[in-house]
Amino acid sequence: MEGWKKVTKRVHDKGGKIFIQLWHVGRMSHPDFHHGELPVSASAINPNSKSFTPEGFKDTVTPKEMTIADIKRTVSDFKNAAANAVKAGFDGVEIHSSNGYLFHQFFNGTSNIRTDEYGGSIENRTRFFFEVLDAMKEVIPQEKIGVRFNPSLDGLFGITMDKDTIPTFEYLIKKLNDYDLAYVHLSEPFTDVSENPFAVTEIAKHFRPLYNGTLMINTAFDQNKGNKVLEAGDADLIAYGKLFISNPDLVARFENHLELADWDQDTFYTTGAKGYTDYPMASKSLK
Ligand SMILES: Cc1cc2nc3c(=O)[nH]c(=O)nc-3n(C[C@H](O)[C@H](O)[C@H](O)COP(=O)(O)O)c2cc1C
Repeated sequence: MEGWKKVTKRVHDKGGKIFIQLWHVGRMSHPDFHHGELPVSASAINPNSKSFTPEGFKDTVTPKEMTIADIKRTVSDFKNAAANAVKAGFDGVEIHSSNGYLFHQFFNGTSNIRTDEYGGSIENRTRFFFEVLDAMKEVIPQEKIGVRFNPSLDGLFGITMDKDTIPTFEYLIKKLNDYDLAYVHLSEPFTDVSENPFAVTEIAKHFRPLYNGTLMINTAFDQNKGNKVLEAGDADLIAYGKLFISNPDLVARFENHLELADWDQDTFYTTGAKGYTDYPMASKSLK
């Protein structure tokens, strides 16, 4: 918290706002992070993926199925994390319920084969997520909570779509109309899913009519593509990933139609400043 206070203060001093993303990666973790103990998940199913460890990417393992006590403890961990985020000066938090991590492992039928109240029906598979959201809003106003989903994620991070996948996300997003969240943040498909009978290929277009609040969309946008989606009314906000890594002053570059710098893929998921804080600013005013 003391470390993050320095960061949030610098952002606020420059008139910015900053949210922090709260994660539990579940079975995408590795025993190396847990003194040799197994990571946990909805069910004991290996995603057969890669886990990012301090020694680089390693094969994932078969996780331990979470007990009810594990689930309750994790709900309170998220609540504590949200309270700590407020103390550290963040303007809000985003629940990382996307990209094959713990909540996604509960949503997905191939990673969740539980037979208790956290498995089976859509209502059961989304129960843990809503328990976390409800606990968090006791310590941070819900208008300061965002959530992130990747509905058409398929064949990555151990997630395989089935006939219940899109209905699960439709249920989640419709139910979020009962809340007053900062935003719902969705990703367009990470891979080509045009041949997948269970997938939705245009995520913003599909989910926009289902959600009354602020909708953010992400994945492979540039300025023009982003503006088109906004003009079509398919989303309210565009999130930029890789372009923001290589262009720290991306907003000013867009505003002034300045040239964009390419990102260096080799520095993704590495440690140290290179590739994170050493991309130059094009606009002096932001230095
Ligand atoms: C190096 C790197 C780190 C990322 N870290 C996160 C992360 O911490 N949380 C998250 O939700 N997405 C993360 N992403 C995914 C991005 O948010 C985004 O979904 C993805 O890069 C696609 O959007 P883009 O085409 O604008 O880059 C990361 C992506 C990259 C390349």
